Amino acid sequence: YWLEQGFNLKEVYSKDRIAAEIERLGQEISAAYAGERLLVVVVLNGAVFFAADLVRALRVPVEMDFVKLSSYAGTETTGTVRVKKDLEQSVAGRHVLVVEDIVDTGLTLTYLLDLLKERGAKSLKVCTLIDKNERRLAEITPDFVGIDCPGGFLVGYGLDLDERMRELSAIYEIIQTPSGGDA
Ligand code: PRP
Ligand code: MN
Ligand code: MG
Repeated sequence: YWLEQGFNLKEVYSKDRIAAEIERLGQEISAAYAGERLLVVVVLNGAVFFAADLVRALRVPVEMDFVKLSSYAGTETTGTVRVKKDLEQSVAGRHVLVVEDIVDTGLTLTYLLDLLKERGAKSLKVCTLIDKNERRLAEITPDFVGIDCPGGFLVGYGLDLDERMRELSAIYEIIQTPSGGDA
């Protein structure tokens, strides 16, 4: 459909590649938290697809909660992170794993980690499917990483361009948009 709309998309991470990385992450995370209960904090909206698959690859008991943060307009970060929907659970005394689809500048995560630390999380770690570190502005190193990515604007499997293309099962780089501009 998006191809018909004039988008030029190049598949960079296939559905199978994503599934394999999630299986590996599931094992790593389960080993790291053996014997513990985990509170998985999912960052809406992008991380929903990844988190849904990741928790099913875990072998430790989990609860999930959701926080909505946003900082992007089109392909550019605005630099200001806002809480659009807060968590419902208390994180005090909990082992918290923040799940992200992508860490780019790191501003979103820095903001969230500070907030969760302040609220008294017992431990705080981060799992991201994509670690895109060429534009990193904050000193953030995710604890569990699916795929290291050099750059490019990615869509699919939760990643969006102005809320579009999240539903794609694989991850694509946008080579060109219909207007002719590069993303
Ligand atoms: C995207 C992505 C991460 C964040 C990463 O979310 O899902 O949450 O940006 O960027 P950063 O490291 O430069 O802060 P976005 O704000 O676009 O909201 P969304 O998840 O609803 O798409
Ligand atoms: Mn997001
Ligand atoms: Mg987005």
